[in-house]
Amino acid sequence: MEIVARQIPGKALETLIVFNARDVTEQRQLEERLRQASKMEAIGNLAGGIAHDFNNVLATIMMQAELGSQIQGLPPEAIESFAQIRAATARAAELTHKLLIISRREVFQPTALNLNACLQNVVSLVTRTIGDDIQLKISLSEEPLLVRGDPALLETVILNLVVNARDAMPNGGELIISTELQHIQVPEQVLNPQAKPGAFAVLTIADTGCGIPPDILPRIFEPFFTTKPKGKGTGLGLSTAYSIVQQHHGWISVSSAVGKGSTFQVFLPLIEKEVPPTARAATYVLPPRGSETILLVEDEAPVRKLTRIVLERAGYRVLEAGTASEAIDIWLAHKHEIQLLFTDLSLPGGMNGHQLAERLRREAPHLPVVYTTGYSAELAGQELSLGKIEAFVQKPASPTKILEVIRQCLDMARNSSS
Ligand SMILES: Nc1ncnc2c1ncn2[C@@H]1O[C@H](COP(=O)(O)OP(=O)(O)OP(=O)(O)O)[C@@H](O)[C@H]1O
Ligand SMILES: [Mg+2]
Repeated sequence: MEIVARQIPGKALETLIVFNARDVTEQRQLEERLRQASKMEAIGNLAGGIAHDFNNVLATIMMQAELGSQIQGLPPEAIESFAQIRAATARAAELTHKLLIISRREVFQPTALNLNACLQNVVSLVTRTIGDDIQLKISLSEEPLLVRGDPALLETVILNLVVNARDAMPNGGELIISTELQHIQVPEQVLNPQAKPGAFAVLTIADTGCGIPPDILPRIFEPFFTTKPKGKGTGLGLSTAYSIVQQHHGWISVSSAVGKGSTFQVFLPLIEKEVPPTARAATYVLPPRGSETILLVEDEAPVRKLTRIVLERAGYRVLEAGTASEAIDIWLAHKHEIQLLFTDLSLPGGMNGHQLAERLRREAPHLPVVYTTGYSAELAGQELSLGKIEAFVQKPASPTKILEVIRQCLDMARNSSS
């Protein structure tokens, strides 16, 4: 309550005092929320900057470990060591991936998707995650809930909320997952500054666990905030979910009662467009090979060198450049041989990978392009809309992944031109 007293002159000797009382709970809550949001942004920026450089280091380690393990006649201990290095690198990559999501420097690849289908994709994983002591109840809306989203990121949101619910019920309980369509007329401004009116797909994940004490409730979305013992939680689960949902123009609301349980609700704006049929990506058993000529553009010399080795071992011919202008020089000399551009999105010297691709496409409109990045400053928080014969691989990627994406893109280009 805010009380303001004001003295106003009255007649003759009398004095009048006016008291104004105002309930400022809403305003204070909103201020607190905004403070939290800017704190998250600051931490996110810091983490994202580190994650980028780290990804380039990880890319090198990952590729060296895979190449090393392919050396003929290695003793079993060496093979095991390489396998361990790869596993550890994959874990580190997962961590940087989360940091990039939080700082919204992750490249976001949205499509039109049905939230119910997205949920069905993770049900078996959810069942395995929660174990036998927790009873799972799922109820999905009858109508499809079409949203514009990145399926992998939305699955991450679901899993993070499910893992938290599981951890809140060490002695078992009930986990309820449901989806519904909600029309919101008046935004709950106070509870959620991001809330807005409209039609929303709402995902609810409710548990009957320990609940969240009111004093820590305002902090749960902060990066690195955790109440779990060291080594158990990093405190990135909810901040990751928060950032992802925000990037989808939605918000998360939470209500909780100590000893009773918690309910998390994810609101995502509905779209009306039909889901376009997505071509099933071909899957390969062995890393696919090819003999085409690839223009490889990468400013990090060690990563470029390794990528070249990976591509050459798979049969490709590689022309390499460290900047966009070098790439254009090579293009001018070899444009009739180059069949694919594989480029980092962020390049030094003023022209990024995207602009480079546009430049080359002026002369070869059907040139397939594969982009890669640890993240790119120009792309921070933006959407990458890929054309038909374009693809994207997030760094650090394994050689197999790179080869698969390149092959798919080349095949797609060939099919669409024939
Ligand atoms: N369903 C829940 N029930 C009770 N407490 C919860 C629930 N979800 C989150 N919390 C609280 O919020 C904190 C932060 O959650 P968050 O998912 O961000 O991190 P974490 O689970 O501790 O670690 P990580 O997800 O990185 O493994 C948790 O440590 C816990 O105290
Ligand atoms: Mg968690």
